[in-house]
Amino acid sequence: MLKLGVLASGRGSNLQAIMDSIKTGYLPASVEVLVTDNPGAYAIRRAEDNGIPAVVMQPSDHPSHDAYYSAVAEELKRRGVELVILAGFMRIVRKPLIDAFRMRIMNIHPALLPSFPGLHGQRQAVDYGVKISGCTVHFVDEGMDTGPVIIQAAVPVHHDDTEESLSQRILKYEHRIYPYAIRLFAEGRLSVEGRIVKVDAPAERDVAVVNPPLGD
Ligand code: GAR
Repeated sequence: MLKLGVLASGRGSNLQAIMDSIKTGYLPASVEVLVTDNPGAYAIRRAEDNGIPAVVMQPSDHPSHDAYYSAVAEELKRRGVELVILAGFMRIVRKPLIDAFRMRIMNIHPALLPSFPGLHGQRQAVDYGVKISGCTVHFVDEGMDTGPVIIQAAVPVHHDDTEESLSQRILKYEHRIYPYAIRLFAEGRLSVEGRIVKVDAPAERDVAVVNPPLGD
């Protein structure tokens, strides 16, 4: 069983999808701890409802951002965490945590990276007028949403979409591909060479891609 530590700042629907996937037996893992930087995060409630300890850790309680991320890394190590899951953690993770879990931190981003990194990926896609956006699970490196891509799902953008309507459409795919990416890791089917992630699974299997039908 792969031991996960989840970092989340808000609603926690991706945390919920991961916990649900564990419950059904789809994901051979356990969530050892939720770490949040937001004492009001709904994710805390979701964790506690599932018997998972929730720890509030805020940068303002530490002398520097590096000290904060060292403390977070220590907390995760202390609980035996093997893979760190960023699930709507709205901060740029710093070096002490990245070094402690090199290529063992995943993030989900609500756009097809490298398009629309940073905040409000869905709003950026709507404002730009792209016809396809989606979501990306990637390993975390020092940059902002720049680490090696593990899996992506393509989702259509409609001309009358708002940030909210597109976010809702993308979120359904987030909930599908995040547990899948973690499962691939748990099964030892991911290997990283440079920035290429090799996935030892049939390329089409379980990858959620939405395309318009071909033909007239
Ligand atoms: C998700 O849409 C996730 O992709 C996004 O925040 C939301 C969190 O929702 N993350 C980012 O934008 C990271 N830059 P959740 O709390 O319900 O899982």
